[in-house]
Formats: sequence, structure tokens, C-alpha cells
Amino acid sequence: MRIDVFTLFPEWFDWFLGQRHVRNALGLGHDVRLFNYRDTTPLGHGQVDDSPYGGGAGMVIRVDVVDAALQAVYGPDTAAMLAARRVAVLSPSGRPLDDSVAEELAGLDELTLLCGRYEGIDDRVREHLSNDSLSIGPYVLSGGELAAMVVADTVLRKLPGALGHESSALEESFSTALEGAAEYPHYTRPACHRGWDVPDVLLSGHHQQVRDWRRSLAARRREEQG
Ligand code: ADE
Repeated sequence: MRIDVFTLFPEWFDWFLGQRHVRNALGLGHDVRLFNYRDTTPLGHGQVDDSPYGGGAGMVIRVDVVDAALQAVYGPDTAAMLAARRVAVLSPSGRPLDDSVAEELAGLDELTLLCGRYEGIDDRVREHLSNDSLSIGPYVLSGGELAAMVVADTVLRKLPGALGHESSALEESFSTALEGAAEYPHYTRPACHRGWDVPDVLLSGHHQQVRDWRRSLAARRREEQG
């Protein structure tokens, strides 16, 4: 899978790209590429944004700047680009990211993430230069970069081999293996700390009982979360 991220702050992703599961995914032949809108802006002095029509605070990333960045990478045919790949704008008003959306994205060969900054991105980008929009939650971040990392993280860890331990992505929170339930609780040594005991069943060595216990707790958490 290839994930392309368009941003004004590619260096923010250095930390993310250094993480073990991301490096694993890259080592398996997957790719994360970063593109800076500023590198291809058609405007002078590296300009990428402008004040909003109709007034208001802050600056908006220009549609011609995003268009130039996309054309520099995918060529001049926007319709062909949109037919060939998923291009998602990161926005608080986008499609809410959840485990099934992450699963869907992990099945793609090509995913492009467009980060906005400042007050946002000209809405014509959403309308004409993208075919998806993603929100990581009902709150406003100061830009799409953290959201792009969240999306890339949850997608990359679903790719076979990225975690090094095949079953962990399958059985974790919200996956279909757990019928959408939040994950069961985990414990490790010591078995008792300040009188706080690990549940006996986990020390019993009965694998079926452990499985049943985990499933029932995952289901209970799902009920509690409504
Ligand atoms: N950009 C700003 N806020 C965001 C959010 N909640 N999700 C995705 N992109 C964003």
C-alpha cells in the first residue's frame, strides 16, 4: 500500500515514520511519501494560503496550490487521479474514522491524505480534488497533520506483518473479531501488586476459559459503552 500525505509540515512526520510498526510496514514494501504544498506552489514567495472570502479570522489554503501539488505528483488529469486512487481531505466535518473505515482504507493500494492548516482548506478541494473526507473526531485540531498520522497509524497496523504479531491487530478493540466490542482488559506480571490481583482465570492455563472470559468482558464493555 502507498500512503501519500500532502502537508505544509512534512517534518512533523519524522517521528511517526520512525515508529517500529511503521518501519516494519515500510520494510514490507509499503510506502509513506510526504509532499509539501510549498514546494510546488504556483504563487510567489512560497505563498500557499489567503484570507477567506466573506471575511473572518485566519487563513485558508488555496485550491490552486493544492491542485498544483496534486498535478505535480499524479499528472494533469484530475479525473484519472480520482479514478485511480482514494484522495481524502482531513477535516473535522469529514467521515468519522472508526475501525471499519480503517479496515476499508487498509484494503486500498493507494491512499492520499490532504492536510489543511490554519482555518482550513478551500472547499473546492473537497468538491473537485478529492473523493473522500475523514475526521478523527468531533473537535477541531490546528491542522490535519495529527489526524493524518492517526489515519496512517490505524491503517498501517492493519497490514499483514506490520505488527510482527499477526493476531494482535485481528483481536484488538472494535475489530469484527470482537464483534465491534471494545477490547478485553490486559494484564502482565506481577500477578499481585498492592493487593490488586490479576483475575484468576488468566493464571489458570485453561485457554478456552480464557477465551470465553475475554469475550464476555469485551461484550460487557460494549454494553457499558452503549
Ligand atoms: N483537521 C482539523 N481537525 C480535524 C479533525 N478532527 N479530524 C480530521 N482533520 C482535522
